[in-house]
Amino acid sequence: MHIDTGIISLIEMGADGTRSAQVDCSPKLIPHPGQYLQAHCPAEPDSALGWSLFPVGLPSSITDTDHPAPLSLAPIPRSWHPGTPLELRGPLGHGFTPPPALQRLGLIALGESAARLLPLIRPALADQADVVIFSAAPLPAMPPAVEIQPLSALPEALAWADFWALDLPVEKLPSLRQMLGLEPQAYLPRPVQALLTLPLPCAGVGECGACAVPLRRKSYALACKDGPVFDLKQVDDW
Ligand code: FES
Repeated sequence: MHIDTGIISLIEMGADGTRSAQVDCSPKLIPHPGQYLQAHCPAEPDSALGWSLFPVGLPSSITDTDHPAPLSLAPIPRSWHPGTPLELRGPLGHGFTPPPALQRLGLIALGESAARLLPLIRPALADQADVVIFSAAPLPAMPPAVEIQPLSALPEALAWADFWALDLPVEKLPSLRQMLGLEPQAYLPRPVQALLTLPLPCAGVGECGACAVPLRRKSYALACKDGPVFDLKQVDDW
């Protein structure tokens, strides 16, 4: 985990209305897909808690530390603009960990945006994997090799992928099986990791507990430290 400063070089608006910022900063701060940075704007001392910013979009590379691609981060407040300086802390949490010999990557966006799943696409295509994305949210222009499907096509496709990556608001966990077309108590037939959307107000600094996620066996995990990406089989409430 590193602490450093960065500066916004560009503001972008995604196809789904997600407002993101390209940030010039040390490559050491760059989060992997599903991880996040805690950002604070020193010009806005009233926003003491800062913002949890996730990598979004389709960079050509986010892992080449010698030639890092511009980092797009979201969500950002409307008050930020090109030239805004930021104090950054990260990368934080645990991101997605696709298997090394991945052949078929399935992405499922169940929230209002698929943007946080998109950074998984370029590395998968570079490894010659097939990629399908299921989303009800508008998507940007995709590489030709990426297949786009509606959420309604999911039930017939659940055995297709080697690995599924979900973006899921935590309040939708209880209805997840219904959304996937699964029987009660049934699991997906392939490994699934879910990026849970929930507030991360202290990002682990104060251990406020606001990001507690119920696990099976009656325990809890803190999404800010132990997640926000979880193996779905470990999570309770669905
Ligand atoms: S956000 Fe405070 S403990 Fe996780």
